[in-house]
This record gives sequence, C-alpha cells and structure tokens, in this order.
Amino acid sequence: MPTPESPIGVFDSGIGGLSVLQALHAELPHQRYVYLADSGHAPYGEREPQHVIDRTMAAAEHLIVRHGIQALVVACNTATAIAIHLLRAEYPQLPLVGLEPAIKPAAQHSRNRRVGVLATRGTLQSEKFRVLHAGLAQQAEFILQPCDGLAGAIERQDEERIATLSAQYTAALGPCGVAPGCIDTVVLGCTHYPLIAPRLRTLLGPDVAMIESGAPVARQTRRILPQVGTEGTPSTRYFTTGQIGALQAAARRWLEADARVENLDLG
Ligand code: DGL
Repeated sequence: MPTPESPIGVFDSGIGGLSVLQALHAELPHQRYVYLADSGHAPYGEREPQHVIDRTMAAAEHLIVRHGIQALVVACNTATAIAIHLLRAEYPQLPLVGLEPAIKPAAQHSRNRRVGVLATRGTLQSEKFRVLHAGLAQQAEFILQPCDGLAGAIERQDEERIATLSAQYTAALGPCGVAPGCIDTVVLGCTHYPLIAPRLRTLLGPDVAMIESGAPVARQTRRILPQVGTEGTPSTRYFTTGQIGALQAAARRWLEADARVENLDLG
C-alpha cells in the first residue's frame, strides 16, 4: 500500500512534463517523485488515439506496480484529453490529476475576449476538449491552433525547427496585443510549450498574457494527496523510454544540476 513517503508519479510523452514537475517541486518540495518520459514513443499529438491510450495505460501500470506511487500526475494535455477517463476507470482508488488547456482562466483574463490556444492536434480534436470549449464559447472567442511538429522539435531540441514552427503558429493566430480586436491572451495547451516561453514571448509581444497549467496542477495535486509530507528528503528519479541524454540535458537545464536519468523499456 502506498504511504505519504511513496513517490508521486509524473508522466508525459517526453520532456514537456518537466514544466509541471518544476511547479510540483515548488508546491510540494518534500515529496518524492518519479518522472517518466515516453520519449521513445513521442510525440503523441499527431498519433492515433489508440496509440496514446496504450502508452498511457502502460506508463501508469509501470508507475503503480514498480514504483508504488501514491498519486499520478498526467503532465500531458494530449494523454489527459484522450485517456484520463480510462485511467480513472481502471484505477478508481488512485489520486489522479490531469492537465487540460487553461481556456477557462484565459477567458476570464482576456479583456478583448479573444483567446489564442496553442495545443497539439490530438488535444484539440478530442471529445474532452470539444466539451470544454463548447461550455465556454459564450465567454470568449477561442482561436484554436494545432501545432504539428512543435512538441517533436522541442523534444529533439531542434532550434531551427522550433524557430520556424513557433513563428508560423503564432502568426497564424492573427493580430496579438492589447489593442481592441486583438488576441490578448494565449493558452500554452501543451506542456512542451512553456519550455520555449521566452521565444513565444518575443513572437507574441510583451503585452499578451501567456497562460499555462503547471502551477494550478501542482496546487490541485496538493489538494488530492491524502497526506502531504512536510519533512521528507525530496528526491526525483527520472526515466525515459528514449534517449537518456535528451531528458538528462532538459532536466539539468530546468530542474536540478545533477539529475540522473535511467533507461526504461515499456514494450
Ligand atoms: N506534452 C504533451 C502535451 O501536453 C504532448 C506533446 C506530444 O507528445 O505531442 O500535450
């Protein structure tokens, strides 16, 4: 049985979930974490839903059986959109937090009531997102931009491709800024995108609000934990189904200088 000392599992298709892990470290600094990047099978955003379901279920099972996690954070909008209902059905006892594009806070924030949403195709095409979007359609106009290839380029740290795609997709949103009629709020609806926030900031301009889900998800995780550790020695183990070097470089850059990554074969 998991205890308050058991780790929290954090799962993403790749390195993007590190943006959520960073927020978790800040909100719950005394917990233990196991981060699982399924980089060998990423990106998820342009794959068939069944692929995302199979990978998400395999990752969750691994974290539960091998690491005895006390809670799972699905730090991936795409996996949440496509598979979280199946995870809830399979593991009804497991405290579970997912991520979805923060379009509700964005609608509340936008003065012009025009909100851009950058996300994967899989997220934007999902039934879960369709319902979320339909429920808020009266509050703001949402300009939805699927960003094919962008998470993959971030995953590979392919700076040239990141530059091309981020310029293309932010331009496709249309005029951004605080002037009337412009998009004044942009949702980063994929956990990979906060990792290129400075570039997006340059492209969108200084006045556009960029909204992501890391901090609210960390607060939600605190709420669902049966008991919050306050004194334990924090630790994070990192696993990847892809290249060790890629996750190690990203984790060292974003989180901890001496992060060590282990390889994992999830089948
Ligand atoms: N980081 C993921 C998300 O939040 C997905 C990126 C991908 O694998 O396409 O949607």
